[in-house]
Order: sequence, then structure tokens, then C-alpha cells
Amino acid sequence: MNLKKEIINATSEYFEDNLDFLKLSNTSKKYKSILEKISDQNMDIEKGRNDIYFDNGKALGTLWAALCLDDISRTRQFIRGIDKAIKDKIHSQKPLHILYAGTGPYATLILPFIFRYSNQDIKYTFLEINPFSFKMLQKLILKLGLEDYDITLVNEDATKYQIDPKNEPDIIISETMQNALVKEQQVPIFLNLMNQIKRDVIFIPEKIELSIGFNKAGVSIEAPKEERFHKEIAVFEVSKEAVFPLNQVKKQTVEEFSFEKKQIVIENEKLKGFNHLLMITEIQVYKDEKIKINDSGLTTPIFIKDIPENLKSSIVIDTQYQISSEPKLDYKITFSDTL
Ligand SMILES: C[S@@+](CC[C@H](N)C(=O)[O-])C[C@H]1O[C@@H](n2cnc3c(N)ncnc32)[C@H](O)[C@@H]1O
Repeated sequence: MNLKKEIINATSEYFEDNLDFLKLSNTSKKYKSILEKISDQNMDIEKGRNDIYFDNGKALGTLWAALCLDDISRTRQFIRGIDKAIKDKIHSQKPLHILYAGTGPYATLILPFIFRYSNQDIKYTFLEINPFSFKMLQKLILKLGLEDYDITLVNEDATKYQIDPKNEPDIIISETMQNALVKEQQVPIFLNLMNQIKRDVIFIPEKIELSIGFNKAGVSIEAPKEERFHKEIAVFEVSKEAVFPLNQVKKQTVEEFSFEKKQIVIENEKLKGFNHLLMITEIQVYKDEKIKINDSGLTTPIFIKDIPENLKSSIVIDTQYQISSEPKLDYKITFSDTL
């Protein structure tokens, strides 16, 4: 079988509406082994393992970026979201231009599409900051025999990359995040790229929401997530609508951008029966393709504080997202009786 057929066959399960974890897990293993075979590169070496640190957050080492494929719910939902976005856009725009920021060594999220569309239908810009991942990507593209495709490879920082106004993308894809949007560069990448383009460009993921939630006391970790986690209130959202309101006149650079501070108050009555405060991450990849609480490593709730038993006061939480060499949602928790 040639590589084109192998990749199409190996990735077909991601497109099935019926969710079968066993089949999905086999698909993921098959897809990964094809990529490993083509790349033929040991990544478990120093330059493969090392994360790289920048002003706007870290970029994953090549080995870890390649491993993202194994997060099967993440990979399935992103591929399905991208599929729907391409189908929505391709009728009005030909060739469609997809900008993929943070490809890793395999361009994992876009490779299932390349051979499913003709080289006339879609052109691609692949951005990757990590030089070792970038080298592997160049080699992979060469080995896949994609010379007839319009693919531009750029070894640059997507938080600083300048889009050519004569060659604007129609869809931007970036999965450069961890749960709670800590450490990696998802938010500055979103800001920099979306600041430069027309409003109808689709950014994938469409929406990332961080919320404060609680963990039910005494519920086993084996219990369904609906019984374990309670989402209380959203505190931060990354989406076109939330970050770039329609009435906004002046565009700001990543350095100038400052997210608004948010204060929430949770009455003690609401906290009865819960023992931990959590930071919850949810992702809307595109339309109904979502990654719900705890479905993926990207949406695993993070413990932030114990909730004392018999709490008599409310809890006040101040939050603000900060971009720095270690991006995160800063928060301060105060019990109202100590204010
Ligand atoms: C979480 S991995 C995901 C890899 C692959 N896209 C996937 O979904 O399986 C993120 C990738 O984005 C790259 N990256 C992180 N920050 C970047 C930036 N500012 N500009 C370009 N690439 C970046 C990392 O080096 C890494 O390869």
C-alpha cells in the first residue's frame, strides 16, 4: 500500500460519528506507527526531550509534541472540528488557505486531510517554532511526496509571525495548550494571529473556557464525571467574540494586550457537600465538536484549594489572565470573613 492510502485508511476512524474507544485506540496506534516509520528519527534524545522557553511561554520538546497524538479524544475532536470547518469554508473559498501554528514533528492534525483533498483545493502554511520538530516536519513532507501541494513551511514564532495581507488564511489551527491554559502559548498565538485578519476567519479551537468549579466530597474517582465535578462559573474565555468585541477600534499587540480582571463571589451555602475548588477547562473545537470536562488531558480539572468543612463565609475569587514567560490565569482566593 502506498503512504497516501495508508494514511487515509489509518485515520478513517476519526471521522466515524459512532464513538468506539477500542477502534479509536487502534486507529491512534496505527496512525502513530505510520508517522514513526516515515520519520525514522529517535526523538528520545536531549534536543528531542527539551522544552524551549520564550517570552510568551514554552514550546514543547519534539518528543512530547509527537506524543499529543496519543490523547485520543483530543486528536479525534480536533480532526472532526477541522473537517467541519473545511467543509463550511471550501465552497466559498478556493483554494482554501489553512495556517497551522505549532505543527509538531508530524503536522498530526492536518495530515489526515492533505490526501483527502486535491492540491488545487487547499494550500497550507505550517508554522513551527522548535527547530528539531521543524526539521522532522520538513523531512516528513519530503518523504510523503507532497511536492505538488502548495505547502509553505515556516520556522518562526506564531506569537510574533506577521501574516501577509495578500495571503490571509481562511482557517487557523493551533493546539498549543495545557489544561487551565498554563505555560504554553495558545493565548498569545490566538491574539497575534487573530489580530491581523478578517473577522470571518475560523480559529480552531473556536472557544476555550476556564471556569471555577467544585469537586464532590466522598465520590470515588471511578464515578462518572457528572457526579464528581460541578462547574460553577466561567472566569475566562478565549474566542473571537470574547477577545475582539465588534465595537473594538484599536488593535493591540500581544505586548499591549491586557485581559480584564474578574471578581466572583461564591456563597458558602453553595459549597456544601464539596471539598475542593477546581479550575475547569472546556474546549469547543468547532461548532458541536467539543472536548468536555476530563475527556482529555487538555480538560482535566486542576485542584486549586481545599474547601473547609462547615465554612461560614463566602469565597471571593479574583482572576486575571496574564501572558508572560509562564502564561496562566492568576487567581487570589479570599474568605469573606477575613476581608
Ligand atoms: C501541543 S504540541 C501539538 C503538536 C501537534 N499540532 C498536535 O496537535 O499533535 C504544540 C506544538 O506547537 C509548537 N509551538 C508552541 N509554541 C509555538 C509558537 N509560539 N510558534 C510556533 N509553534 C509553537 C510546539 O513546538 C509544539 O510542536
